[in-house]
Amino acid sequence: MSRIVYVNGRYLPYAQACVHVEDRGFQFADGVYEVCEVREGALVDEGPHLARLGRSLAELAIPEPMSMAALAHIMRETVRRNRVRNGLLYLQVTRGTAPRDFPFPSPEIERTVVCIAWPRAPDLLEAQAVRGIAVKSLPDIRWRRCNIKTVMLLPACLAKEAARNDGAHEAWFVDGNGFVTEGASSNAWIVLDGGAVITRQIGPDILSGVTRATLIEGLAKEGISFMERPFRLTEAQSAREAFITSASNTVMPVVRIDGVTIGDGKPGPITRTLRSKFHQFAAISVS
Ligand code: PDD
Repeated sequence: MSRIVYVNGRYLPYAQACVHVEDRGFQFADGVYEVCEVREGALVDEGPHLARLGRSLAELAIPEPMSMAALAHIMRETVRRNRVRNGLLYLQVTRGTAPRDFPFPSPEIERTVVCIAWPRAPDLLEAQAVRGIAVKSLPDIRWRRCNIKTVMLLPACLAKEAARNDGAHEAWFVDGNGFVTEGASSNAWIVLDGGAVITRQIGPDILSGVTRATLIEGLAKEGISFMERPFRLTEAQSAREAFITSASNTVMPVVRIDGVTIGDGKPGPITRTLRSKFHQFAAISVS
């Protein structure tokens, strides 16, 4: 089936979907984005993703391109036109197109809005979750405003590539004090021997994950003890369980960190429970 992409007011065939060469997203990474899970044709946690997009835009003083309701309509329409039942949706907003100059152009210029959706086979992801993934640690070389979901993802690309070259699926960034900040495109979690679930507190060092927030609500519902604090790589390596969260993975078990086996090397029971219950905790859009 041919793919359809939303670009600046039009739904276009994939091959014709283009933005200008002087788009500030292209030249300066001056833009923000969201990735949402599509499940059974519906968007998962659409509201929180749009709310975060609004916060990211505000942090960078990019005027909202349209109402959040209009953006939600575009997201749903992109899913519908591509007939995605299970997959992912990508929404990007940049400051727009202007002759190359560092300071912001007039706020009157049109923002660039792009929306793409694509299917993924749920059984492939599920098979990965049954095995669990390996993680490679790397120094966190990113900037100090990681709470803004910008398209400036080169450090994440470098880290993911290094991870892949080491047979790992995700990279975990480590700060100057030896504490894990987060994954290259996910939040990082561990489960202690007593069963307490730990993840780093939100702040400028990490992205405030939508999946993270939904899972925290789920932990409370399940009566699982939970603490927000930094943890070292060594603590993670000796933890009972470890996992990552993101819209693209929901809850994904981690079974190896820098070659060290976590627990018995298989996804642990708490991680498996949280993965299986995740969509009960999340908000599923109805259109
Ligand atoms: N990444 N931390 C980083 C650095 C991320 O890029 C992401 C998401 C997360 C998890 O956020 P959420 O739960 O809202 O997806 C944490 C998306 C999936 C991506 O770039 O593909």
